[in-house]
Amino acid sequence: MSLLRVKDLSVDYRRFRAVDQVTFSVASAETLGMVGESGSGKSTIARAVLRLVEPSAGEIWFDGQSVLPLVGTDLKKFRKRAQMIFQDPYSSLNPRRTVVQAILEPRHVHGLETQGWTEKLLQRVGLLAEHAVRFPHQFSGGQRQRIAIARALASEPDLIVADEAVSALDVSIQAQVLNLLAELQKDLGLAVLFISHDLAVIRQVCSRVAVMYLGQMVELGPAEEVCQRPRHPYTVNLVSSIPGSSRQVPPVPFSPKNSHGCVFAPRCWKADGVCWQERPPMKEMEQSHEVACHHAVSLEEVTSV
Ligand SMILES: Nc1ncnc2c1ncn2[C@@H]1O[C@H](COP(=O)(O)OP(=O)(O)OP(=O)(O)O)[C@@H](O)[C@H]1O
Ligand code: SF4
Ligand SMILES: [Mg+2]
Repeated sequence: MSLLRVKDLSVDYRRFRAVDQVTFSVASAETLGMVGESGSGKSTIARAVLRLVEPSAGEIWFDGQSVLPLVGTDLKKFRKRAQMIFQDPYSSLNPRRTVVQAILEPRHVHGLETQGWTEKLLQRVGLLAEHAVRFPHQFSGGQRQRIAIARALASEPDLIVADEAVSALDVSIQAQVLNLLAELQKDLGLAVLFISHDLAVIRQVCSRVAVMYLGQMVELGPAEEVCQRPRHPYTVNLVSSIPGSSRQVPPVPFSPKNSHGCVFAPRCWKADGVCWQERPPMKEMEQSHEVACHHAVSLEEVTSV
């Protein structure tokens, strides 16, 4: 069953539409990846889901309950169950507070028992009991991200939104933190919305992936299938840019958004008349694999690009 459901979500910053009619869901104990280049609206979706930015349109349900109308104690209860991990743990951790203060704070805020939780949380994320009394600056980047993860786990959430959670780390440290996230996801049955601009990272940890382009979702499907057989021209580009990929498509220069038809038309090698006129809706190509394209890349084409 879906723990999180998002339908036709749009977010505007003044008159700029950062997220445009995005629909997806995340099941309990599932990791959904969300990929897209800088400015594609990933963080805005994360913030809207956690009620940190107000959507202009659309609906969000969490565990069957509509999230947008929540206020007061109901909103607080939702916040206990849905937590976020950011790219830069240094800015999300107060430099003047020790690890124990940082990780127990959510339990204090939500009036939860704290006895025994310091050791439990530190152990859970692979840190030592003696780390509890130290300050964030005394740790490496990878360790700081572990502290941030411990803090996110403190309120015993059901959903974690990880926004570029490993992007700032060295590759070897990245792998360790990804392993930790995968382990937690499995052991605790967490639902995770895993945001990254790096499809190779998403492929390692996610069962499904959503591909974003300039505020719109263009492809959604099983991660392995989307990587092996991308059906949207933009995803074909993304996949071919993964280092080591056998498919080499020349990089496409940046172009402004096409405001009438398909958002990708200015960069698309398949664009024709209808693409400039009509926005393509998400359509199911294979089971659970949806693509927003008038001329989705065929399976024969995929293997030849
Ligand atoms: N507070 C804001 N005010 C105005 N525009 C904003 C604001 N936050 C984001 N934007 C714009 O909204 C669009 C989407 O931004 P967002 O941060 O969601 O993208 P992103 O996919 O997370 O990018 P990145 O990979 O760089 O983190 C961008 O064009 C950005 O400039
Ligand atoms: S709808 Fe047209 S322009 Fe858009 S991605 Fe598909 S083929 Fe390209
Ligand atoms: Mg972002």
